[in-house]
Amino acid sequence: MSVERLAVGVLASGRGSNLQALLDACAAPDFPARIAVVISDRERAAALDRARSARVEAVWLDPKDFADRESFDRGLVRELEKRQVGLVCQAGYMRILSAAYIRAFFGRALNIHPSLLPAFPGLHAQRQALEHGAKVTGATVHFADEGVDTGPIVLQAAVPVEPNDTEETLSARILVEEHRLYPAAVRLFAEGRLEIVGRRVIIKEPR
Ligand code: GRF
Repeated sequence: MSVERLAVGVLASGRGSNLQALLDACAAPDFPARIAVVISDRERAAALDRARSARVEAVWLDPKDFADRESFDRGLVRELEKRQVGLVCQAGYMRILSAAYIRAFFGRALNIHPSLLPAFPGLHAQRQALEHGAKVTGATVHFADEGVDTGPIVLQAAVPVEPNDTEETLSARILVEEHRLYPAAVRLFAEGRLEIVGRRVIIKEPR
């Protein structure tokens, strides 16, 4: 008997390597989720090509077609709801998401960030870690809320900062962990094992 897999929407603005990690994970027959749609605010995002190559629907929403951020996000929510997604993964999505989106998807939207939050939120997290002189940084998957990189934390992995690191070498080391963490978090969500209690995410034992 085949069990219905969780439909996931992915939001991505750029390269899409995290999207690729999710697509690869979903290719395994026993993975409990599938990517139903990839949506980008950038027409030429490589993420859209990755989606098409994997025969996943790729949608470009042009911000110029919307009056403001709220109306863009209402459009985004409509597209996601049309595909009945049970989870949204923000994967290098470069727009700040408004309350309209968070109201619709709180507890069902994940984000990935290249630092050990709450350290170094926002843009250029790897550069921030280097400039601060941190010896350890990492990657975080968290539920999205109305702040920038502030929502309840699901999974984290630590990554050492090496003395000769550049932004590029550090980013590459972190990315290896991102590509491991994101599919792991999606699996936990799809298996119904994540429970948000205040700021904490409880990871329940498998049933
Ligand atoms: C990743 O470092 C992710 O953590 C951050 O943006 C980057 C996106 O990379 N939010 P990619 O588009 O998934 O390759």
